[in-house]
Amino acid sequence: MIKDFVSLSPFSPDDIQEIFALTHWLKETRPLNYKPLAGKTAALIFEKPSLRTHMSFEVGILQLGGQSIFLSDDRIGLASRESARDVAEVLSQYNDLIIARTYSHETVEKLAQFASVPVINALTDRLHPCQILADAYTLLEKGLLSRDTRIVFVGDGNNVANSWLELAEKIPLHLVVACPRGYEPDANLLRRAKMAGISKVEVQHDPTIAARGANVLYTDVWVSMGQEEEKLKRQQAFAGFQINQSLLNTADPECLVMHCLPAHRGEEITADVLEGPQSVVLDEVENRLHVQKGIIAYLLGERAEHILTLDRASQYAIAEGV
Ligand code: CP
Ligand code: NVA
Repeated sequence: MIKDFVSLSPFSPDDIQEIFALTHWLKETRPLNYKPLAGKTAALIFEKPSLRTHMSFEVGILQLGGQSIFLSDDRIGLASRESARDVAEVLSQYNDLIIARTYSHETVEKLAQFASVPVINALTDRLHPCQILADAYTLLEKGLLSRDTRIVFVGDGNNVANSWLELAEKIPLHLVVACPRGYEPDANLLRRAKMAGISKVEVQHDPTIAARGANVLYTDVWVSMGQEEEKLKRQQAFAGFQINQSLLNTADPECLVMHCLPAHRGEEITADVLEGPQSVVLDEVENRLHVQKGIIAYLLGERAEHILTLDRASQYAIAEGV
């Protein structure tokens, strides 16, 4: 059994389908008495700011019957006051789950290596797997998680783009990353996604060519957390890599607009498009909660088929009408 959710890499397509099945059950039935985390605690350690990830994990853990304890890094000093190994071993003595957002991806890998409890990656400089699984689930709900869906990621080949590549290695998609030269996603992840032969994966340097016929236009900030000193340079490099009405006009007429948020209106996306009728950003936001509950349930060994076959579902009061 896979202990941690640090990247999508160790998860098979079946594992991902299973997480989606748990997510679907949790989202659609809202089982009030389903408390696999009852009596358990989760440590949330965050080196970087967060609204969605922090809140959706805290709410999700509460809904699953657990208690979360949030520690920002100024209270721990990961890698300065304490080594990742010591933090992992110490937190494992008190908690049943660790959720970590760090700068270095190696820090989360180390936490997973030395923790005796599951570790979930809540974003690193390299990957944001919770986000991409929630985004994939959003597309699944809309009948768009398929190799015919042209998903065009416009902007920086950052942690979010890298996680799209990891997904493309598992689930058939048509993924186009449109970025300025020098801002491509991780070369190794790109090679792996292409080599896997599951998805069609391309890198483009002209956003208007990339966006043509897109079914999904996706973007993220030009300046990620930790890159603030590069702000000016990046704003210049990414000029032209903006999702705006004119770029949207070149896409499929029913093209969806996605953004992991936080958004910088007027930079990577214009306000009218972000807030417009083709935007599904709030669906993405909502699904962070459900998918992360699915991930936690999966890591605890829960399986949808088991729940449904044993008719355990009927033991759980359903939110609607309760
Ligand atoms: N999308 C996302 O991860 O948002 P936060 O940084 O607010 O958690
Ligand atoms: N690429 C962004 C994602 C924020 C959710 C960052 O790392 O800051």
